Amino acid sequence: MSSNIAKFRISGGVPLNGEVRISGAKNAALPILLAAILTSDKMVLSNVPDLADVKTSLRLLEELGKSCVYDSESGIAVIEGPVTSKTASYELVKTMRASIMALGPLTAYLGEAEVSLPGGCAIGARPVDLHIRGLEAMGAEIELVDGYIHAVARGGRLKGGDFVMDKVSVTGTENLMMAAVLCEGTTVIHNAALEPEVVDLAKCLKAMGAHIQGEGTPKITISGVRELHGCDHSVVADRIETGTYLVAGAATHGYVKCTATDPALLSSVISKLREANVLVEEGEDFISADTRNRTIRPVDIVTAPHPGFPTDMQAQFTVLNALADGISSVTETIFENRFMHIAELIRMGAHLEIKGNTVICSGVPELHGAQVMSSDLRASASLVIAGLAARGTTVVDRIYHMDRGYEHIESKIRSLGGTIERFY
Ligand code: UD1
Repeated sequence: MSSNIAKFRISGGVPLNGEVRISGAKNAALPILLAAILTSDKMVLSNVPDLADVKTSLRLLEELGKSCVYDSESGIAVIEGPVTSKTASYELVKTMRASIMALGPLTAYLGEAEVSLPGGCAIGARPVDLHIRGLEAMGAEIELVDGYIHAVARGGRLKGGDFVMDKVSVTGTENLMMAAVLCEGTTVIHNAALEPEVVDLAKCLKAMGAHIQGEGTPKITISGVRELHGCDHSVVADRIETGTYLVAGAATHGYVKCTATDPALLSSVISKLREANVLVEEGEDFISADTRNRTIRPVDIVTAPHPGFPTDMQAQFTVLNALADGISSVTETIFENRFMHIAELIRMGAHLEIKGNTVICSGVPELHGAQVMSSDLRASASLVIAGLAARGTTVVDRIYHMDRGYEHIESKIRSLGGTIERFY
C-alpha cells in the first residue's frame, strides 16, 4: 500500500566501500543564514547544504522581508535587503526548532521581535529559557503571548551585559552572540558552547564587521558595533555527517573515506572508532575508516558537550555497539527521551536494554531486516545504518526526519555501494 510519506527500502548485508564528499554543516548553516538578518547588505554563503531545514530558514528569511536566491547545485545562497517584519510565524518555527535563533538577531536589528515557541525533533522537553534570560540580560523585555515570544529592546537598542549560561547550550550561545554583535557596549557570555559551529558563526560575524573574542572557549566577549556589512563565507564541514558515514562503513565491515571534511572537528568520535578496532586514517581534509576483516570491539560512550562525544552521534554508535563482540554502554547526558531508536533496533535483532539514561548493548553477530519507524533526525540515521548492515530488507518509515539533516542521502550511500531506494 502506498502513502505520501517517503520511506527508504534498504537491501543490507553488503560492506560499504568508497569515497563520499561531506557537505556543509547543517548546524552551522542555520545560524549563519539567520545572521543575514543583521545586515541589509548582500551575504554570499557557500557550502550551504541542500536540506529541508535550509529551505525552511530561507523561507523564514523571505517571510521577514529578505530576498534569497539559493542554488542547490553549487550550494551558494545569496541573501540581501532589509528585514521588514519582526515576526517568525508558528507555521515555520514549528517545523524547525532552530528558528528560535531569529530572536536574537531580530531584536538586535529591529529593536523588537515576535518568534513562535519552537517545535522540532521530539527529543525531550528542550526549553529555551537560556535564550530568553540571556536577552533579558541585554536589556530586552520579554513576554510570552499566545505561543509567541515577544521581545522589545528597552530604549530601542540592546545593551551589553554579563551572562552566565547555567547549562551549555549551542543554539543559546549562537542566539546571544547574534544579539550581542549590535549591542551598545560589551557582552560577556560565560559557560558558552565550544562547538565548531559556534566558532564558524563567529568567523562569519567577524567577516561582517563584528568584534568577537574567545569563540571556542567558555568565555566569549563581544563589543557591539552600530552596523554590520555583508560578507562571503563558506560553511564548515558537517562533523556529524562525517561521523555518520564513518560509522556506516564500520557497521558494514567496509571501507569509507570522507573527503572535504576536517578530522579536528571530530576527535572524540575518531578515538571511539579506534577503540572499536576500526583502522582510522586522517589527513588534512579527509578521514577514512577501514573495518574490513576486523572484529568490532564494544566501546562505552557518554555524551557530553564539545569536545566530548556528541549526542548527535549517539544513536549511530549504538548500532556499532549492537554489532560488537561483547557488552558496552551508551549513556545520554544531554537530552532526555533520545532513545526512540532502541525499540526499532531491537526489532532488527539487536540486544539492547534501556536502564535510565543508559543503553546496555550486548553485541550480536548480525542484525536482520525489518520494518522500522524514524522518530527524529539522528535516530533515523541509526536505522539506515542498521539497515545497511543487516541481512535482508529494511524499510525505514518517516524519513522526512532524515531529509532535515543529510544531503543527498541516497546518492551518497549508492556511491559507496549501498542499495537504498526512496518510495512512497
Ligand atoms: C544543538 C544542535 C543539536 C545538538 C545539540 C547538542 C543545532 C541547530 N542543533 O541543539 O543538533 O543535538 O545542540 O549538541 O545546532 N537547554 C535548556 N535551556 C535552554 C536551552 C537548552 O535547558 O534554553 C538544555 C537542553 O534541554 C539540553 C541542553 O541544554 O538538555 C543542551 O541543549 P542545546 O545545546 O541548547 O541544544 P540545541 O542548541 O537545541
